Amino acid sequence: MKLFIDTADVQEIRDAASLGLLDGVTTNPTLVARVGRPMREVLTEICEIVSGPVSGEVLATTYDEMLVEARELASIAPNIVVKIPLIADGLRAVKTLTQEGIKTNVTLCFSPIQAMLAAKAGATYISPFVGRLDDVGHEGMELVDQILEIYGNYEVDTQVLVASVRSPNHVLTAMRMGADVATIPFNVIGQLIKHPLTDVGLARFIEDGRKIKQEA
Ligand code: G3P
Repeated sequence: MKLFIDTADVQEIRDAASLGLLDGVTTNPTLVARVGRPMREVLTEICEIVSGPVSGEVLATTYDEMLVEARELASIAPNIVVKIPLIADGLRAVKTLTQEGIKTNVTLCFSPIQAMLAAKAGATYISPFVGRLDDVGHEGMELVDQILEIYGNYEVDTQVLVASVRSPNHVLTAMRMGADVATIPFNVIGQLIKHPLTDVGLARFIEDGRKIKQEA
């Protein structure tokens, strides 16, 4: 499973990239607003750090305006993936952008039928938001399971990108289900690495290592 980071903070991206495990980046308008920089400037810098797919989202909600913005975003770098919201105009835009060879990530997916429609439009990625479903009392990962089943039934090429990830358990379940990608906030990437028994075990090895006699 590919691991993307879900942030617009370039320092977090540099730190995650230095691990050597980072396959790509996703951003959204909320994440870009949080860093207080213009969208184009941030995405340009991210594409200089990461050679894998970098998702940048359109702000427009009409077909014509989405196309203008999407082409503008796609001109930033060859690895830009344009994020498009899962609304009727968005699906139309995905179809056109796919014909133009522009990669898309269809975002704000909350149902398996929406996911199938995005695939039919030619989406490169579909982003089910698992954490936000959990927040309203649904089982977010159940949506991922259903999308994978449906895409498997029809040999769909669209990649399932698990988004709105809040915990290592989301990542584990995504891996077990065979999702293509999980996009993970920086703090959760840290949680994936750490285990208390690793820390306890290492402390013991360091302590015992000091007792080993050195050769004369
Ligand atoms: O980037 C889309 C998604 O990952 C947002 O996550 O935590 O705002 O629901 P969250």
